[in-house]
Amino acid sequence: MYEKELFSAELQKEIKDRFYYVDCDPHIGAKRLFFENAGGSYRLKAAVEAGSDKDAYPDCPDRDHHSARWLNDILNRGMEDIRVIFNAKSGVIATDLTATQVMFNMVRTIVQNVEGTNMVTTALEHPSAFDAVNYYADKYGKELRVADTSNETGGVEAEDIVKLIDRDTVLLSVMHASNFSGAAMNIEKIVRMARDIKPDLYIVVDGVQHAAHGIFDVEKAPVDGMNFGPYKFFGCRGIGVGYLSDRLANLPHHKVIRKPQNEWRLGSPVPMQMASITEIVNYVCWLGSRFTQSQGRRELFEEGMKRIGLHEKGLLERMLDGTESVPGLRHISGVKVCPDCRDLTNRDLIVPVVFEGADHGEIVKEYERRGVILRETPMSSMFFDRILGSFGMDGALRVSPLHCHGAEDIDEYLKITKEIAESLR
Ligand SMILES: Cc1ncc(COP(=O)(O)O)c(C=O)c1O
Repeated sequence: MYEKELFSAELQKEIKDRFYYVDCDPHIGAKRLFFENAGGSYRLKAAVEAGSDKDAYPDCPDRDHHSARWLNDILNRGMEDIRVIFNAKSGVIATDLTATQVMFNMVRTIVQNVEGTNMVTTALEHPSAFDAVNYYADKYGKELRVADTSNETGGVEAEDIVKLIDRDTVLLSVMHASNFSGAAMNIEKIVRMARDIKPDLYIVVDGVQHAAHGIFDVEKAPVDGMNFGPYKFFGCRGIGVGYLSDRLANLPHHKVIRKPQNEWRLGSPVPMQMASITEIVNYVCWLGSRFTQSQGRRELFEEGMKRIGLHEKGLLERMLDGTESVPGLRHISGVKVCPDCRDLTNRDLIVPVVFEGADHGEIVKEYERRGVILRETPMSSMFFDRILGSFGMDGALRVSPLHCHGAEDIDEYLKITKEIAESLR
């Protein structure tokens, strides 16, 4: 169904050329399949290179001389490009060192200023968002309500979230897409249903894992907060980014006192980081321009992300079902995709795989010996125990390629998977 959405071989090559180290590990000079992009995505060459020269300038961007104005333009451009990513026509952009810090700041500000007795989140959240809610619920004596996951979809159903919300709910925190199952939540539907119960409900969304695979749109899904980390979105480490609605931005928060009430900048911004984010948007727009005549930056960006999502669904379908020459994960004996939702509409390219009866730590090593990098998600990890428990599982592997990969990369991975599965019999 999605096969026709795969990029042409020519475009695939152009894409690969724009990223560092797609097919090899530069340390050992060996070919490899890096299927661990949920831990940190491939870096765009332009995003890495955009930074360093900006940091060489001593000029403060707030001054009014030539190089200062140049740096200030870079900052402003980066801020505008973050708005393009979120489709934020209003609200405020906040940054911190990590996406987690942005999330804790948003949740703290809401709980300190909004009346209510309970806070709602889901069992699927990364500790980054789950613990922000848990920590402040505990600190301010709010009841913590946690929506269950669905084994059918690998996500959390809107109905299961909404049944926990009432007039006394301080906030809802829900992720855009899971870093374990790849399930993408229907944020528009969740917002609509949640606000049917409490029209002024504050809603924050962890966008970290969806950023590289799909579209954010805070105009269509008017949440109060959303975050992402550029290093999981073709860019670099060292910054977390957040969108805040006007009403959230204007709540009392940590601030230099004489700045405007909606100012979230604490201290000096970093032009190099903003230049790097602009390169992410430039890249996605370039990709979009291969498919549409539109000239608007958001339109190009949306088209680019849409095409990335479609190509990745083509890869996902191939991974799950295989082809005539190589069986997919669903057809390799001893291997199971779990949870595995048949409908790919709301699935990002992150796949949980179980080798029945095997030690997944050992399996990861087997893959590495064959040049494939992926992640074990064991019950002993604080990042996965709650999530695995919610699905009744006790461990898995996480396989996370990226749109930079082509069908031949998936086939190679499937051949190796079959070989490892057979060696265990
Ligand atoms: C879904 C999700 N949310 C949040 C985070 C935290 O991001 P950061 O480490 O940039 O704060 C991660 C990191 O893996 C993640 O996967």
